[in-house]
Amino acid sequence: MNDSPSFAAYLESPYRSLKHSSYFRVYDTLFGPYRGRAITFVEVGILGGGSLFMWRSFFGPQARIIGVDLNPNARKWEKDGFEIFIGSQSDTSFWQDFARKVGPVDILLDDGGHTYAQQIITVESMLDSIRDKGLLVVEDTHTSYLQGYGPEKFSFMRYSQNLIDRINRRSSLVSDSPAERRIWSVQCFESIVAFHINRPESAAPSVVTTNDKPGDDAQDFRHRERRDPRIVTVARPLVPLLRHLPGIRRAGRWLRNRAELRRFRIDRFFR
Ligand SMILES: C[S@@+](CC[C@H](N)C(=O)[O-])C[C@H]1O[C@@H](n2cnc3c(N)ncnc32)[C@H](O)[C@@H]1O
Repeated sequence: MNDSPSFAAYLESPYRSLKHSSYFRVYDTLFGPYRGRAITFVEVGILGGGSLFMWRSFFGPQARIIGVDLNPNARKWEKDGFEIFIGSQSDTSFWQDFARKVGPVDILLDDGGHTYAQQIITVESMLDSIRDKGLLVVEDTHTSYLQGYGPEKFSFMRYSQNLIDRINRRSSLVSDSPAERRIWSVQCFESIVAFHINRPESAAPSVVTTNDKPGDDAQDFRHRERRDPRIVTVARPLVPLLRHLPGIRRAGRWLRNRAELRRFRIDRFFR
């Protein structure tokens, strides 16, 4: 870790900070491109104040470093030039007031209370305030697999999966569900989820294109492998009789998909 700028900044900080060792490479990867720039960086969760100094040293003096905590004692870090906001990350009115006072944010890092409600409300409340090409990062997401942070059904990782589903619903092939048009991509590390915000890219239509080069009349073999020889033997003589029945194609697809899942024992990958 000797070559990690965020780890060096962490060690250099004059006050106590608590971070998992695996996070520093992730910080370098995600936040490295913002170093030396006049960005607005927000961290939820101040505790001993050490991470505020770490971020200042990591991003450089141009960065505006803002801390959020429920503990009013955290106000003391204002004297060191940090902007401190006292309130609860699970309070939507706190975030409304915060967004109005702070304006657009480049990076928000949630290292607060880590309950599902706190994490989800923070993302939902702040998504609209993150600049395009900015990041909203939630850490300690392993709480989604621990007792005591909320009902599993509403875990943060399930919420993230739901957002991923909503990103894919942007496809022109899927028309019946609300799509997510602020988050361009979701990046998942061990215990950290990063949402990359980019509204123009998220709104860009996706249409099928071709580069108009010779196609060699290649046949698409996508369904060949999926045919179960036993079903083909039974079903082939029936095709001319059944092909005009309504819903027959859908039923055939359903049978083929089921047979394929069984043949390759796909259930073993769902644990
Ligand atoms: C894990 S510590 C933060 C550690 C710090 N970021 C560091 O690197 O050293 C969590 C902090 O979140 C604060 N916190 C807990 N629940 C909160 C809430 N609902 N809203 C805001 N802050 C909260 C706690 O007071 C505590 O200071």
